[in-house]
Amino acid sequence: MKREKFSSSLAVFLATLGSAIGLGNIWRFPYIIGMNGGGAFLFVYLICVLIVGIPVMISEFFIGRKTRLNPVLAFEKLGGKKWRIVGYMGILASLLIMFFYSAVAGWVYSYTFKSLIGKFNGVTLESSRDIFINMITSPKDVILWQLTALLVVAIILMMGVKGGIERATKLLMPVLFILILICDIRALTLENSYEGIKFLFAVDFSKLKSSSILTSLGLSFFKLSLGVGTMITYASYFTDDNDLMSTSLNVALSDTLISLLAGLAIFPTVFAFKMEPSYGPGLLFITIPLIFSKLPFGNVLLFMFFLLTSIAATTAMLSLVEVSVAYLIEVKKIDRRKSVLITTIFIVLFGSLAALSVEGNVLSNVKLLGRTIFDIFDYLSSNILLPLGGILISVFVGYFARSEEVFLEMSKGNGNKNIIYIKGVLFVLKFITPILILVIFVRGLF
Ligand code: TRP
Repeated sequence: MKREKFSSSLAVFLATLGSAIGLGNIWRFPYIIGMNGGGAFLFVYLICVLIVGIPVMISEFFIGRKTRLNPVLAFEKLGGKKWRIVGYMGILASLLIMFFYSAVAGWVYSYTFKSLIGKFNGVTLESSRDIFINMITSPKDVILWQLTALLVVAIILMMGVKGGIERATKLLMPVLFILILICDIRALTLENSYEGIKFLFAVDFSKLKSSSILTSLGLSFFKLSLGVGTMITYASYFTDDNDLMSTSLNVALSDTLISLLAGLAIFPTVFAFKMEPSYGPGLLFITIPLIFSKLPFGNVLLFMFFLLTSIAATTAMLSLVEVSVAYLIEVKKIDRRKSVLITTIFIVLFGSLAALSVEGNVLSNVKLLGRTIFDIFDYLSSNILLPLGGILISVFVGYFARSEEVFLEMSKGNGNKNIIYIKGVLFVLKFITPILILVIFVRGLF
């Protein structure tokens, strides 16, 4: 059977960007920027992206495109049998992320529907909070919406790399961009929008704590979908002449731009209504419906906002699920449709436990070491497997891969013009990236 590939560099860019852009851009990044000194934090974040994010991303691209295999076989081919373990860790991590990510994606889908049917008309702070609590505590609601989100992901993946992932991201990324711009224009033309801009961008080095640096390292990792083999898997479908360096740079910068645009849609509105900025569920599911519904055409705007958030979550999930699908197709020789089905059923089984373990729902009392099921999945993946994967990937490419092969793969599509940058990337991969990730890892453990 012939292995599929993306059809152009544009398709490569949009699919990879689709993986990077996700819930992280909307419910975490903008707030973190605001609370850690605005422009000052942005500066630190960009440095982390440059010396940790981009080198790891390029490493994953190298492993994937060089071998054109799923992470397990890719590591085996380049490093021998014992390196397969890194591929297996990636599969495990991507599944663990999916278990809780799909639960939150379900909430977002539900809110898209609720805003479409006008559920937030004339909502108050109390009723907005009630709507959220009623949703997350209802076993039927959370499961149903999580299933819906997973069904959408499964259908797209069943259509294949070109017919599914490529087609969906080519359509959805521009839609997401337009929707975010519309929300931005509305937010920035409000009175007092200046306060929100100030919150995001004012450069304040006094708010930059030592912990900000570690936060930004962790954030750059999750944001850019690194450490679990999603980028290895996608790169195994890249075109031959794609310039890996410029793709990684473009994806990292565009992803950051989308986070900033999301922040510009959210915070001017929050401040215009004199609300407190916060992040996570509180902001997305309580504050935003409340303030948007107070604007003229607020319902339409709210619907657009949740639609764009659903799109972001969906294209990120495509890449997470594809890791296991590629493995089942190539190692277990199961056809694509069945592979997608098996992976999805597996995610539904464990993912529903995560959804039901949220505060107030039926499994919220089931705890291990003081953590709910949802939190355990999050902790194991974000704090342990992700950084560990990142260290192993950068050490592998820095020390174990043949450097002629790395040079050759990275100089495709740029006619050897990037030799000096490639040398720089390899230097950073050997001596800086693994050490910095080790620091996040050790800190995350405690
Ligand atoms: N980057 C996505 C986000 O910001 C989530 C994501 C997709 C991810 N694939 C990943 C995170 C792989 C870690 C690893 O929401």
